[in-house]
Amino acid sequence: MRNLLLAAVAAIALVGPASADTIKVGVVGPFSGPFAIQGKNFKAGIDAWMALNGAKVGDDDIEIVYRDIPTADPAQAKALAQELVVKEGVQYLAGFYFTPDAMAVTPILEQANVPLVIMNAATSAIVTKSPLVVRTSFTLWQTSVPMAKVAKGRGVKKVITVVSDYGPGVDAETAFTTTFKADGGEVVESIRMPLSTNDFSPIMQRVKDSGADAVFAFLPSGPTTLGFVKAYNENGVKEAGVTFLAPGDLTQESDLPALGDSALGILTTFHYSIAHDSPENKTFVEAARKAIGNPAELSFPSVGAYDGMHVIYKMIEATGGEQNAQKAVDAVKGLAWESPRGPVAIDADSRHITQNIYLREVAKAEDGTYYNKEIQTFEKMGDPGLAAVK
Ligand code: PHB
Repeated sequence: MRNLLLAAVAAIALVGPASADTIKVGVVGPFSGPFAIQGKNFKAGIDAWMALNGAKVGDDDIEIVYRDIPTADPAQAKALAQELVVKEGVQYLAGFYFTPDAMAVTPILEQANVPLVIMNAATSAIVTKSPLVVRTSFTLWQTSVPMAKVAKGRGVKKVITVVSDYGPGVDAETAFTTTFKADGGEVVESIRMPLSTNDFSPIMQRVKDSGADAVFAFLPSGPTTLGFVKAYNENGVKEAGVTFLAPGDLTQESDLPALGDSALGILTTFHYSIAHDSPENKTFVEAARKAIGNPAELSFPSVGAYDGMHVIYKMIEATGGEQNAQKAVDAVKGLAWESPRGPVAIDADSRHITQNIYLREVAKAEDGTYYNKEIQTFEKMGDPGLAAVK
């Protein structure tokens, strides 16, 4: 009996009680340079999540390790991810604003035994590059298909498309064009411009000359989207009667003060408006505004980051803190919850987020601030782009 007891005590000592660890999450994003506000929004979403849900999962402390990547730079993204995994010992990778950066990291995930939770990068194909990718943002297919429907429904007949020439731009162009044409619309011209383009006057001239009654545009949110919408307003395209149509990247809330009254009435389709009317969003916006400091800087990457943290906390819970990337990812397949953006779920097959897409109109509130007013909902959209990349 005594021996048995001793053996039992020895066995417990060997296995040990669950010990408290620090679990590190490596977050890569643009925290300096021209896209710094977008990175600041990642951090605000993460801070808001941790302020509302704590910095622990079970007994484990959660530590976020940030790495800065100012613009799209795949080689640097891969180097940073490797450094986070090998030197910092992160168990999770997250963030990633630009598609090329996320793409560059997918080949290292399985060997590193690390899931990648994408908080922004929005090209459909990313999730197909590794079974360890989960995405909590959106895709350009998700947002652009509804815009083609809206255009058709409002009597638009001829469209010119203008996109940045890289993954999400090509997706936006393909999604819009395919859908619009299938509904009987005509795309008269498709312009792809280098990511670095910042003089849009020549493009606005081509838009005017094209004979289109609307322009559909996508550029990644940042200084160039602001420049693009300004150029549309200031180069006589609007006066020429060419309607502006775009996914919500082009009217992110942090750009609205600089656009002013000239943006009023612009229609966009997107997964999130800061003005979304729900108790969950009210709680989120309050916490995220506190985290970001300047409330006017709050924008959509914050909600991708907030929901990304929700997913990571579920993964840590499900694995009891053990490093098992496949088990972590499997645990969130089918996970559904009420996000600040509305009801969402992680699609079990694609690991991409299913969500409502809203048609919004830029409006002015009584206090003089501008916002994206939701006026129509496309419910529970998966990613239509996945059929196209398979
Ligand atoms: C991307 O590179 O995937 C990306 C960046 C910014 C956006 C949308 C997509 O607004």
